[in-house]
Amino acid sequence: MTPKPEIPSEETLDPQDWSEMRRLGHRMVDDALDYLERVRERPIWKPVPESAKQALRAPLPTEGESATAVYDEFRRDVFPHSMGNIHPRFWGWVIGTGTPFGALADMMASTMNPNIGGGDQGPNYVELQVLGWLKEMLGYPADASGLLVSGGSMANLVGIAVARNAKAETDVGQQGVAGAPRRMVLYASSETHNSVHKAMSLLGLGRDALREIPVDPDYRIEVAALRRAIAEDRKAGLHPFCVVGNAGTVNTGAIDPLPELADLCQAEDLWFHVDGAFGALATIAPGVKPLVRGMERADSLAFDLHKWMYVNYEVGCALVRWPEKHRATFVSPADYLAHLSRGLPAGPIWFSEYGVQLSRGFRALKVWMSLKEHGVKKYGRLVAQNCEQAKYLESLVEREPELAMMAPVPLNIVCFRFAPEGLEDARADAINEEILYGLQESGTAVPSSTMLRGRFSIRVCICNHRTRREDLDLLVKEVLERGRAALAAGTAEVGRS
Ligand SMILES: Cc1ncc(COP(=O)(O)O)c(C=O)c1O
Repeated sequence: MTPKPEIPSEETLDPQDWSEMRRLGHRMVDDALDYLERVRERPIWKPVPESAKQALRAPLPTEGESATAVYDEFRRDVFPHSMGNIHPRFWGWVIGTGTPFGALADMMASTMNPNIGGGDQGPNYVELQVLGWLKEMLGYPADASGLLVSGGSMANLVGIAVARNAKAETDVGQQGVAGAPRRMVLYASSETHNSVHKAMSLLGLGRDALREIPVDPDYRIEVAALRRAIAEDRKAGLHPFCVVGNAGTVNTGAIDPLPELADLCQAEDLWFHVDGAFGALATIAPGVKPLVRGMERADSLAFDLHKWMYVNYEVGCALVRWPEKHRATFVSPADYLAHLSRGLPAGPIWFSEYGVQLSRGFRALKVWMSLKEHGVKKYGRLVAQNCEQAKYLESLVEREPELAMMAPVPLNIVCFRFAPEGLEDARADAINEEILYGLQESGTAVPSSTMLRGRFSIRVCICNHRTRREDLDLLVKEVLERGRAALAAGTAEVGRS
């Protein structure tokens, strides 16, 4: 008898002991929920300790260790050292908080681990349904196309890419921008988010082709200046193709005059893209909604769900009024991706034909679960609540003679600073910078900063469903105390580093 050939043992990444993995999983869920339930009791942020940094420089593991040991390392070296944006007093940049159910949804999405490039699979229908709900929430046409993306930056890139291809005087997808007979120019206010500049650079249009239009005292685009710029560019033989309107600027939450911009784009045959990264959600709060009127007329609309809808990172959305133009920008036929008429590839839509990514995660699930858990009305109330809290903070600032408001508060952003009478501007800049460090380093509150009309400002952006008014009382008290102490100690020398 010929001996049987020796069969090498086959390996898998599944656990050898499922019950041990199950125990670990339960522990992880308990830790996650404890972490969220007790968030108010912890400092918001603290510097990453040297021991953790050291551990995170360990060499590539060549052999494995138990999942429990790995989890314990994570628990020691990573888990306690987060950005802190889930905390009630985190108001830096434009950063959302997430929710417990959103985190669990992510776990289930990752458990299913589908690739939502396309195909006849449940998650695809979930994303389609979510897009339908979002269009309805934002008053956008039901037959518009769209897709969920990593965030506002990607959504702006998608919108501006479609604008470029739709308006180019050449087949730009085939020939590139070099094939365009005239240089294409885009217009946006000087307060526009830098993701638009990035998109201009990535799309081969160049940052130089972004005309930064000045703003009025309320930080809204000056439409007369915009008209002049377009006329001048036309006269110079350039090709104006797109205006980006802001529904909530990153610095102050200013909202450009969107109906006027929509009219102008219509009259001038320009693509109207709206960056509503957070401000677009104002439309679900009945009292705030009128502020973003006109947004629904955009040819493309970018917004985030991980900001003012408090969904766990990452999830944004790009909507486009013209589905064919949208698809034409991204579709690139390939035999290995044929839709076919039956079986798995026959699904209702291939999202990969509407954006940059072919492989896409199931980010729709957390949006779907969140909207079902709370209902859109509650989200509307929370958006309104954040706006009311911003107004409340403004009233606290205005009551204090040592504090000064730095910009109007149309939405959820409050920019102010410690500026007692007689304090020289440059010294005030340095003191406010010191106040900001103190707030963050003590773990008390995390605002961020910006420069407004050349002056350093403390910037509070409330995309936070956990914030209470008492948190804002504490912030003002701390700013005053820290400002007075810096003044008395003569610290915070003039001149920023
Ligand atoms: C107005 C605006 N647009 C775009 C973005 C970019 O969004 P994301 O950070 O989700 O990429 C931001 C981020 O804060 C923003 O405030």
